[in-house]
Amino acid sequence: MSPVEGDICTKHPFGVGMQVDDIRICVVMVGLPARGKSFIAQKVVRYLDWRDIPAKVFNVGNYRRADTPQPTADFFDTSNTEGERLRRAAAEAAVTDMLEWFHQGKGIIAVLDATNSTKDRRRWIQERCAADNVATLFVESKCDDESLIMQNVMDVKTTSPDYKGLDPEVAAKDFRDRIRKYELVYETIDEDEADMTYVKLINVASQTVINRVHDYMQSRIVYYLMNLHIKPRSIWLSRHGESMYNLEGKIGGDADLSPRGEAYARSLPSLVDQSIEPGQTLTVWTSTLRRTIQTARYLVDKHGRQLPWKALDELDSGVCDGLTYEDIEAKYPEDFKARDDDKYNYRYRGGESYRDVVVRLEPIIMELERNEDILIVTHQAILRCIYAYFMNVPQERSPWMEVPLHTVIKLTPRAYGTIEERWKADIPAVSTFRTKGSSAKHQ
Ligand code: F6P
Ligand code: PEP
Repeated sequence: MSPVEGDICTKHPFGVGMQVDDIRICVVMVGLPARGKSFIAQKVVRYLDWRDIPAKVFNVGNYRRADTPQPTADFFDTSNTEGERLRRAAAEAAVTDMLEWFHQGKGIIAVLDATNSTKDRRRWIQERCAADNVATLFVESKCDDESLIMQNVMDVKTTSPDYKGLDPEVAAKDFRDRIRKYELVYETIDEDEADMTYVKLINVASQTVINRVHDYMQSRIVYYLMNLHIKPRSIWLSRHGESMYNLEGKIGGDADLSPRGEAYARSLPSLVDQSIEPGQTLTVWTSTLRRTIQTARYLVDKHGRQLPWKALDELDSGVCDGLTYEDIEAKYPEDFKARDDDKYNYRYRGGESYRDVVVRLEPIIMELERNEDILIVTHQAILRCIYAYFMNVPQERSPWMEVPLHTVIKLTPRAYGTIEERWKADIPAVSTFRTKGSSAKHQ
């Protein structure tokens, strides 16, 4: 087996030759409320976890909520000494827990999610981290685009635990008052902090300022951040229609659609119509294989030409390509068992593992993040990996997820999680899902 990056990931997530034992980075979010900080924090951690880099968000608001679950805007007024004391205590508790988490070797990237809106606060965090040999990367989200701020206010008032059970209009007003309190004392990162490592994302990364980023891991996080935007959008996922190989229980290959798969292709435009706003169009991506191109071809009239990506081709099953699971069990019994024992890491002879697929999907994820509404027509294993990235599904589970044929899945990322909706076509298809130990043709 060739030593690709995926091989090394379990022990050394960053590939050959990196000294990872010493890497510990605290990503410190900075910004006024409603600037997408929690959204960005969650995304960074989900991305790192997906790439097998253990990471965790420490949200100061969660610590503060232990004492003050539903504060009004006055709590955040700096002349409120009790409020100041409690907020300081929450920040102390979050930083202490985070440093303990590093000590226990539980992870290497922590994201400290809070406003961290003053120079004093940031200097204090940097000093606490430095004393424990933890590097800091400050990430300031600046935004004066009123429509985006409003979108965020709407999102927070309906989803934040701070406003749970409150009249949405009262919540929105209080949240805007809270923002005003912060604006009075907010200090942007400037030349006084030129010694610090930071990145400023201005108006959803339409401008990015980078200062003193000097290691591989930090630059990788910055690269990811540069691809992010916080504009509202969704991602649509569908497998290809049922294929002739699916009917026969064969894996891989480049088969055509079955008659029922063709019927799904014809029904796809109206299924998609049910999940979009009137007049909305999507960018359509497929793999380079016949079955996904055939499935997407009737979308062209409304949504334009589809873009085929090699990186979206199905997991390469190497010498097993074109076989049924029963054939594989008979011909390669040890491999069949090894795959069941560790499906994520098992690499087909001459082919790929799920781990390899995640590595090759990295550019797809970056492109997905940069873009807005995209519909991807792809394959079972690929869809599982993309879904796992957005929905935070752990490696042990993602290769075993059931992803039915003839179904459109819509994912809408939000500050506090991703909303999932599904539309099922009324066209039967075989199930290609295989439970552990089974070599049945269809479930
Ligand atoms: O059976 C359809 C299919 O897309 C095959 O081409 C592919 O090898 C397989 O699913 C991937 O699923 P699993 O990892 O569960 O074998
Ligand atoms: C909060 O209490 O919700 C919070 C983020 O705290 P601070 O603004 O003090 O960081």
